[in-house]
Amino acid sequence: MAKIKQEVRLPYESDPNVVYEGDALNTLRYDDVFAVKHVGKLCGVTEHTAQTFTIPGDGEVALRIEVWSENVVRFVYTYGATPTNFSYARTTGARPHDATVTLERGEEASTIRTATLAVRVAHADASVRVSDRESGLVLHEYAAPFYARYTLMQGLDQMRLQFTTDRNEGFYGLGDKAWDTDLNGRCLENWNSDSFAYGRERDALYRTIPFFYGLREGHGYGIFVDNSYRSHFDFNSNRDGLVTVWTDGGEFDYYFINGPRLDKVASRYTELTGVPELPAVWTLGYHQCRWSYYPESRVKELAATFREKRIPCDAIYLDIDYMDEYRCFTWNKDYFPNPKEMIAALRQDGFHTVVMIDPGIRVDDDYFVYQQGVERDAFCRRSTGEQMVGPVWPAECVWPDYTNPRVRDWWGTLYRELYVEQGVSGFWNDMNEPAMFKVNALTFPLDVRHDYDGLTGDHKKAHNIYGMQMTRATFDGLKSLLPAKRPFLLARASFSGGQRYASLWTGDNIASWEHLALANRQCLRLAISGFSFVGTDIGGFVDDPSPELLTRWLQLAVFHPLMRVHSMGNNTDGAAETESEEVKKAEQTDRQDQEPWVHGGKHTDNNRKAIELRYRLIPYLYTAFRNHVSTGEPVLRNLFFYDQLDPLCRKFGDQFMAGGDLLVCPVVEPGLKSQQVYLPRGNWYSYWTGNHYEGRRKIRVKLRPDRMPIFVRAGAVLPTVDAVQHTAEIQKLDTFHLTVYLADEGNGKLFWDAGEGYGYQMGQFTERDYRFRREGNRITIEQEITGEFNASFRNVTVHLVGLTHAPGSVKVNGTLLPHSLRFDRRGASVVVSSEFSTIIIE
Ligand code: NOJ
Repeated sequence: MAKIKQEVRLPYESDPNVVYEGDALNTLRYDDVFAVKHVGKLCGVTEHTAQTFTIPGDGEVALRIEVWSENVVRFVYTYGATPTNFSYARTTGARPHDATVTLERGEEASTIRTATLAVRVAHADASVRVSDRESGLVLHEYAAPFYARYTLMQGLDQMRLQFTTDRNEGFYGLGDKAWDTDLNGRCLENWNSDSFAYGRERDALYRTIPFFYGLREGHGYGIFVDNSYRSHFDFNSNRDGLVTVWTDGGEFDYYFINGPRLDKVASRYTELTGVPELPAVWTLGYHQCRWSYYPESRVKELAATFREKRIPCDAIYLDIDYMDEYRCFTWNKDYFPNPKEMIAALRQDGFHTVVMIDPGIRVDDDYFVYQQGVERDAFCRRSTGEQMVGPVWPAECVWPDYTNPRVRDWWGTLYRELYVEQGVSGFWNDMNEPAMFKVNALTFPLDVRHDYDGLTGDHKKAHNIYGMQMTRATFDGLKSLLPAKRPFLLARASFSGGQRYASLWTGDNIASWEHLALANRQCLRLAISGFSFVGTDIGGFVDDPSPELLTRWLQLAVFHPLMRVHSMGNNTDGAAETESEEVKKAEQTDRQDQEPWVHGGKHTDNNRKAIELRYRLIPYLYTAFRNHVSTGEPVLRNLFFYDQLDPLCRKFGDQFMAGGDLLVCPVVEPGLKSQQVYLPRGNWYSYWTGNHYEGRRKIRVKLRPDRMPIFVRAGAVLPTVDAVQHTAEIQKLDTFHLTVYLADEGNGKLFWDAGEGYGYQMGQFTERDYRFRREGNRITIEQEITGEFNASFRNVTVHLVGLTHAPGSVKVNGTLLPHSLRFDRRGASVVVSSEFSTIIIE
């Protein structure tokens, strides 16, 4: 064994002063000593089944290779334990697909081949090389044999994979990183952390998504490390051409996911880890939050102001102060004497109520949640057996062990009163890293025990999945309480696969321009990492935004699936004693409200305009979500997902695609009069003016305070509606809009249904596929309708953008319309029956 000097946690390089291995008789003593274990020299590759291979080496680390499809290969390294094949991240449906696989045993290596990949395993040390069979491009090549580190005091404390890269390779994803888009040159860590007022490059943040993309010579691939321990990803930070990934224990279970298209990598990753359910339409509306809205009169006044000022809104959130002294599942009756009545009145006016639930349960013998939890032995315990007690909002809390299925079931039942009886529409699971106050670790000591679904483990193993299991317990509970309702859950901490249960927001950000740029990057990064339903605290949680910043943030968030303003407010009167000095200080300066009208006059108008745009686009966004749920393609995608071969798409890192057709160019700096944007391949139209632009060009656009540059793909057919005050009103509209952005041909889609419930799974939806073509002066638009949902839309206004001539006649299903087209600055429009099958305009 080698000695470990000073600290047990060494950097990932093996100690250059390795002293000895297996020298038990040496009488010197150290804090700890370690040994490095390998797979070793191979005695061949044993074929197990057609798609699974065990790799017998003369070392102590076991390796199994499984072919999950022709594009996905799984590598499982274990040391000192039998592989469990257990995963919180994998969705239940994920399993290997049949694939044709061959094995060739050579002199120096054995090679497993699928239709697209060749996986070579060197006999000398089990090093792996994965290449694309068609081009021969090497995509993944070990720079050193895989190793496990075992120390006498810690046991297995490191599993390490190291492979080669070059400076031009792009690395993306990894979920929750407040860094530049490309992670090449960075070393990052995954350990779910309460990150109040985090700054750029603060690491680690709230979530662990150990999945990243590589883009090598235009070929995209992904690596997903399904391991819940603290993990580290060093993307060539020493500029030595090496990527090193290591975890602080566990099985090193990773999937190599081939593209070559990045879109395909995204879909294949979600095949493994799942997608969310189709969200209820109201959740895509605008949400208003603050820490905290109370008492009831204030909540009612807030709702009334939205309607009075004609600013659309669908949801109001109640932060911790609605509770009775931070007891989850209770109400402060002084502030909210009759919650059921208040919630019903809000619903009547089109507002859904979302309330916070934390995992920290107050220690209080008279409190039913504490009592029930104690009776059921539901709370986490230290390794000594005593309950884990610590401070969050109450000075003494205990935490349910959500890794225990029995506890998850119980936790789900606790929502009954709020959800079923009182009419709360959605829940907000905060502080679920789990966060603990007063200690620098920000969380539990590592010896706390967890059930880990019967496999048992300590907090080292369970920390990163704790929050995700809380959301799972909540989601499953809500589903069984009201099976006909789509649950809405917003969470802070999560893990790969957590997208199946909850949407996320990016935590306690700051009202600064830097954070606006970060908000954009974080949402994009989360979206390509499996979490499409994401958003930020619009305007910033800490500090007050300037009028311009708040407007620009709202304009950006029109395209973030979760569009929610949240701010810290000033809670000094009701502050929890346990709050840190840092939080208390921030509260004193954070006095301003953050509703869309806070800055008055033209600012209110600009903010209203942004929120109205969101409501106009709801049919398009909902359709994009439907696509995400069925294909795994992210709702938001970086520009380089649109064209991964175009280097300028990587350079214009702030621009992105929302759905398949909208190119969004956020304004993330103050005071700009104009901005350079890049239009990638294809042709584009300005969403605002209808002006046509050829792609593969940089253009400079003039900026206006009331809108940011948005372009639409030529060839798109965009479904929209008129702005409404809340999404339920969309269900009553008689007419919707289809804007045809002319090209020689094009297509688009609308998916629509009741916006709630599961009728759509039994045919209660309407899906409309549009195709158009332009031949000379004739434009033909065809519609194909599937599904049985009886939508309120009787008519559709078809807008044509990009006309090169002024057409005179419109035929619908072969019949000439008596009235002619209406012309405006952007083109022409005509109202027809929404059930049309063919429209010919010439
Ligand atoms: C921390 C959350 O991140 C924040 O959004 C919330 O307002 C506070 N906790 C109070 O509940």
